Amino acid sequence: MTVAAIIPAAGSGKRLGGDTPKAFRLIAGTTLLRRSVDAVATSVDSVVVAVPPHWCVAAQAALAGAACPTAVVVGGATRQESVFVALTALAPSVDVVLVHDAARPLMPPAVVAAVVAAVHAGAAAVVPAVPVPDTVKSVDAAGRVIATVDRTALVAIQTPQGFRRDVLERAHGVASAVATDDAALVEALGIPVVTVPGHPAGFKITTPYDVVLAEALLGSRT
Ligand code: C5P
Repeated sequence: MTVAAIIPAAGSGKRLGGDTPKAFRLIAGTTLLRRSVDAVATSVDSVVVAVPPHWCVAAQAALAGAACPTAVVVGGATRQESVFVALTALAPSVDVVLVHDAARPLMPPAVVAAVVAAVHAGAAAVVPAVPVPDTVKSVDAAGRVIATVDRTALVAIQTPQGFRRDVLERAHGVASAVATDDAALVEALGIPVVTVPGHPAGFKITTPYDVVLAEALLGSRT
């Protein structure tokens, strides 16, 4: 099987602050984009990254010397559009697709390999899941608690998410609403999605706090 990764990296990263798109921010001296590509590179045959307009040259520079061939496309206004555009740039030979957020640079390669292995073993769609440690409540617009949700049935979902290519293309082709992950589009087709254990290090860089945490984790690895 030929495996490719799509890295949606076209977000602005407003919640992180600053003028540089989030994927091009540095974590301990290396862009989130490069770290996220490196996290998947040993499990895939090629990578397509989707970046904001005018960031293609910077992306090519960031990806020089990566462990597998990379291609760069301009992403869209939403994450879903960015993944859709990248799907159209995949080589015809690709039959398994991973979608991995550029905003998750520290996902351990072992989780990536487990996602690929689950697709190889026959799953049409695979997502890494981690337990939800906090109590979860639903609230109204004023912040008043409506209910406490039973967290034993809840997991938080990370990336990379792995798919049979035909399934992911069909899911994106018929998508009627904007979803925050690709598995939701597959679920909408009624196709089963399975989980593999995720990892806390696969957290999404969203706020300045997350940058501090990522740099501390990288420092503790050396
Ligand atoms: O904004 P958020 O962190 O949820 O975005 C998740 C991933 O989707 C990020 O890697 C971001 O760069 C990407 N994205 C994208 N195109 C957009 C918006 C987000 O590729 N228009």
